[in-house]
Amino acid sequence: MTDIIDGKAVASEIREELTDAIETLADAGARPGLATVLMGDDPASQTYVNMKQRDCEEVGIESHHVDVDGDAPAEELYDVIAELNDDPAIHGYIVQAPVPDHVDYREVIRRVDPAKDVDGFHPENVGRLVAGDARFRPCTPHGVQKLLAHAGVDLEGKDVTIVGRSDIVGKPLANLLIQKAEDGNATVTVCHSRTEDLGAKTRRADVVVAAVGVPELIDGSMIGEGAVVIDVGVNRVDADTEKGYELVGDVEYESARAVASAITPVPGGVGPMTRAMLLYNTVAAASQQEAVAVELP
Ligand SMILES: NC(=O)c1ccc[n+]([C@@H]2O[C@H](COP(=O)([O-])OP(=O)(O)OC[C@H]3O[C@@H](n4cnc5c(N)ncnc54)[C@H](OP(=O)(O)O)[C@@H]3O)[C@@H](O)[C@H]2O)c1
Repeated sequence: MTDIIDGKAVASEIREELTDAIETLADAGARPGLATVLMGDDPASQTYVNMKQRDCEEVGIESHHVDVDGDAPAEELYDVIAELNDDPAIHGYIVQAPVPDHVDYREVIRRVDPAKDVDGFHPENVGRLVAGDARFRPCTPHGVQKLLAHAGVDLEGKDVTIVGRSDIVGKPLANLLIQKAEDGNATVTVCHSRTEDLGAKTRRADVVVAAVGVPELIDGSMIGEGAVVIDVGVNRVDADTEKGYELVGDVEYESARAVASAITPVPGGVGPMTRAMLLYNTVAAASQQEAVAVELP
């Protein structure tokens, strides 16, 4: 029997535990605050931002939102960033990607106060993560780690193949999983678009993480018997549904499920965890800035 790893359930457990930490902070007069910044009017980004705000409300995090005109000069966004850096009610914030083409996203990230960088993308935070002293773990990789832990997967000495080397998923996840730590100690292979014989690298892995953005790239023939499969991918494909599309992962679910010992569904796997871990980082940021100790899940 293949175990279906229920990201929605694990995320809900984490949110519940965070609510206790938020109460502890509130009792000390420190209500956590998260801001979202959206430059432009990309509908998908708007949806993500709305979801993040709703998530905050549900657990008792104060949410703020700033819209910046998509045609405004980069300086206007930098001014918003400077204000958020100085605002003591904002413990963490995210600048929703993508930003318009005339804005340099790397420069945006460099301007975020690392103490409020709840995405964990600032170079200082990336460096700390690599050094094994993470201030914030980026939300998606952290969510994957938590899912693996909840599924009872002990990574020590295991072979993990990650397909995808993006700055937000593949690279930070690889760095987390090789750490000499309880939720690390894996031997990690990172694959990308130039990797030769991808199937050979995924088949030999005990754990396969797909973060590619190519619908159903990895099928059951590329998964070893009994492996654990974590599908980060979220891809819209045309379908005969009310919306005219459906969401599929980077893994061909049915054929992979037939050989895997455990697998995450799409949707309902990694997605809800990413959202929960943003709340986690916001609570951690508030705890650090307000010097109020809390227990984090
Ligand atoms: N569930 C969530 O919460 C969540 C969060 C973040 C992302 N996602 C989803 O996860 C997927 C990946 O996101 P991302 O931001 O990491 O994507 P990305 O920045 O586009 O990176 C994709 C990676 O996949 C590699 N790749 C592309 N085609 C490949 C192929 N045929 N074989 C092997 N590797 C290939 C690329 O290689 P190169 O580096 O050589 O180009 C790149 O490293 C997307 O579907 C995205 O929507 C989901």
